[in-house]
Order: sequence, then C-alpha cells, then structure tokens
Amino acid sequence: MKLKSSLPLLVFLLILASPASAFDPAAGKELADENCYSCHGNDVYTRKDRMVKTRSGLTSQVRRCELSLGLKWFDEDVDDVAGYLNQQFYKFDQ
Ligand code: HEC
Repeated sequence: MKLKSSLPLLVFLLILASPASAFDPAAGKELADENCYSCHGNDVYTRKDRMVKTRSGLTSQVRRCELSLGLKWFDEDVDDVAGYLNQQFYKFDQ
C-alpha cells in the first residue's frame, strides 16, 4: 500500500482509537448546575424507580432534556453532562 493512499485510513483509525468515554466531569457539572434544575433536582437520578437503565440511555435522556430546554448543546456537552451524572449518580460501567 502506498503511504499516500493509506493516510486517510490512518487518520480514521486514530480517531477510532481515542477513548470514547473521554469527558470532562467538571464542565458537565457546571452545565447541569446552570441548566438542569428548573424541572427536577438531582433526586430523579437516584430515585428507586429511576427511568434510565443503561449508560447509553443516560446520554439519550440528557439529550432529550437538553432539547426540551432548547439549548442546542454540542455532542461534547451532552457527553460531559452524561459522564458527570454517571460518575456522580448512576455509576454504570462504561
Ligand atoms: C423542561 C423540563 C426539564 C428540564 C429543564 C430538564 N429535564 Fe430532565 N427530565 C424531565 C422530565 C419530565 C423527566 C422525567 C421525570 C419523571 O419521570 O418524573 C426527566 C428526567 C431526566 C433524567 C432521567 C431520570 C431517571 O429517572 O433516571 C435525566 C438523566 C435527566 N432528566 C437529565 C436532565 C438534564 C441533564 C437536564 C439539563 C440539561 C434536564 N434533565 C433538564 C424534564 C426536564
């Protein structure tokens, strides 16, 4: 394989190799503290019959709530908040 033609593949593999669970919990906490207390508090994350059952479900729910707020967060913001909530409350394995 010529180097030139394998370069895009290499870049692609590098992107894949970067950890999917990389998030910034401090940024996530700040975003959640600023935006997420108007409808519910932290108690929904720890209640007995909580809705979210999986790590990916957590990200989906954060996205749903964020959209209902009309915030237009980037995927990274959603990941930061979901990562923070998981670390602090849900504690799913990644
Ligand atoms: C417009 C109102 C509203 C806002 C603002 C809101 N949420 Fe929610 N959220 C809800 C409702 C409604 C539920 C479902 C609660 C229930 O079943 O009683 C919920 C549930 C959740 C759950 C699931 C709780 C469980 O049972 O496991 C998560 C996680 C969550 N919200 C995250 C967030 C985050 C993060 C934000 C800030 C971006 C946010 N919410 C802001 C309305 C809101």
